[in-house]
Amino acid sequence: MKAPRSARRDAAPQTGRLPLIAGNWKMNLDHLQAIALVQKLAWTLQDHGYDERIVEVAVFPPFTDLRSVQTLISADRLPLRFGAQDLSPHASGAYTGDISGPLLKALDATYVIVGHSERRSLHAETDQVVGAKVRAALDSALVPVLCVGETAEDREQQGASAVPVAQLRAALDGVPADADLVVAYEPVWAIGSGQAATPEQAQEVCTALRVALGEVLGAEAADRTRILYGGSVKRDNIADFMRQADVDGALVGGASLDAAGFADIVRFPKHVTR
Ligand code: PGA
Repeated sequence: MKAPRSARRDAAPQTGRLPLIAGNWKMNLDHLQAIALVQKLAWTLQDHGYDERIVEVAVFPPFTDLRSVQTLISADRLPLRFGAQDLSPHASGAYTGDISGPLLKALDATYVIVGHSERRSLHAETDQVVGAKVRAALDSALVPVLCVGETAEDREQQGASAVPVAQLRAALDGVPADADLVVAYEPVWAIGSGQAATPEQAQEVCTALRVALGEVLGAEAADRTRILYGGSVKRDNIADFMRQADVDGALVGGASLDAAGFADIVRFPKHVTR
């Protein structure tokens, strides 16, 4: 399934899906640094004439920053959303060190990243655990940003799409067709490596993921669900990704820690339609 192409060859595809630029801060910035970054980001976006009807912006700070970020966004009515980087599959109980969906919802978080490759590899999160976390997020009315992606070895042995599609199918087990979720395609070899996928490589896998979404959740879900690309996204390459019909935004790691650079990534419509 392909979104309709825009008439202008150099324009962003008109898909009806609101682009989402998401900043995954990983384990960086304390709550004071978080406040400074969000303030600077908001000012910079405002200077650029940012319009939240054209592109949505979300930040994903560490847990310890969330309350400060929430307070700032709500007090200053900033046009930004935020989410957490992980959640427990359980709602409450004896799970020392874990943070649940209800705790995040109480902070007014909109999103939560689930199944990031660093969680899968460093915390041995299996597809089953990731699926349980997706359902836990939905149970708390949080929008999961479900990350999938292949290693260089997977790609060599099974092709580009096999592993991401299998991860998506496994994580969507038991998820209702009307679930509000975001998918992030993040090839493991592109994360933090400075070696981004090519726009064509991203489009190929994002198309396969959209087809799989259609098979599992139905055509309406496939059409409505945003699929992001992540892995070494920078201000210089964002426009090329956003020209792809099935890429609806980006999950940005390193480049989201710099307000000016991240704001330039958010400005991609200017570059795409120029
Ligand atoms: P990167 O990270 O932009 O630093 O490659 C992306 C991610 O891990 O979400």
